[in-house]
Amino acid sequence: MDDPVQRHPTRAEQLDILATLVADAVPDGGAVLDLGCGVGYVAHLILKKREAISIVGVDRNADALRKAEENLASYSGEFSGITGDLENIAQCAIPAQPYQAIYTALTFHDLPDTAKQQVIGYAAANLTSGGFFLLYDRIRLTDTALFPLQQTIWSRIERVHGAAMRTADSYEGYIEDLGTDNRPASLADYLTWFPAAGLTPQVLHLHGNVALIGGAKGLV
Ligand SMILES: C[S@@+](CC[C@H](N)C(=O)[O-])C[C@H]1O[C@@H](n2cnc3c(N)ncnc32)[C@H](O)[C@@H]1O
Repeated sequence: MDDPVQRHPTRAEQLDILATLVADAVPDGGAVLDLGCGVGYVAHLILKKREAISIVGVDRNADALRKAEENLASYSGEFSGITGDLENIAQCAIPAQPYQAIYTALTFHDLPDTAKQQVIGYAAANLTSGGFFLLYDRIRLTDTALFPLQQTIWSRIERVHGAAMRTADSYEGYIEDLGTDNRPASLADYLTWFPAAGLTPQVLHLHGNVALIGGAKGLV
């Protein structure tokens, strides 16, 4: 299955880390929740490594969920799709069961900050003790003085990977380009919101402005 998301050249390595963490930590028969699963690409990376688990995928796009079910049909591990809006996660018909791992990839920047915090709270409440939440997404750059360093990282990504990410000529241009629907949260916000929800946070991988953050339940 090809990666449906382009313009994220560091994603292959970062998603492989996410998939390895889930595949190694979840016991046989364990349940995993994918928030904003799209066409199932991340679930495919996990099921390719380990089939004896079940993954529930949530997305507001019913067509993407249908495609996910098609894409994942050949795995013996189970995938089931739930249509739902993460801006109102309490209303989503997510099966009520303890999850060993809950993850979300490149979806949080679509959510308002209040919804981000509610989803983190939902994850904390629905993980088994010792389970973990993995959040992979762009983070908001907050410092004008450091912006030239990010520009260098973007240039390097283009040179090394032969593909570019979104770039900007200035910090102000970056903020303007984000617009109103592209709402990455800062690393500082995540490192506040995780503990507030009862999750011990750790930055597991960071490449410029793209982060994989883990939150462990039961250790705060
Ligand atoms: C960039 S795609 C990433 C898909 C997948 N996680 C991946 O990494 O391949 C973002 C996904 O989040 C979903 N999404 C965005 N906002 C959502 C919301 N409020 N509720 C449910 N799904 C949402 C979109 O429909 C889309 O499938």
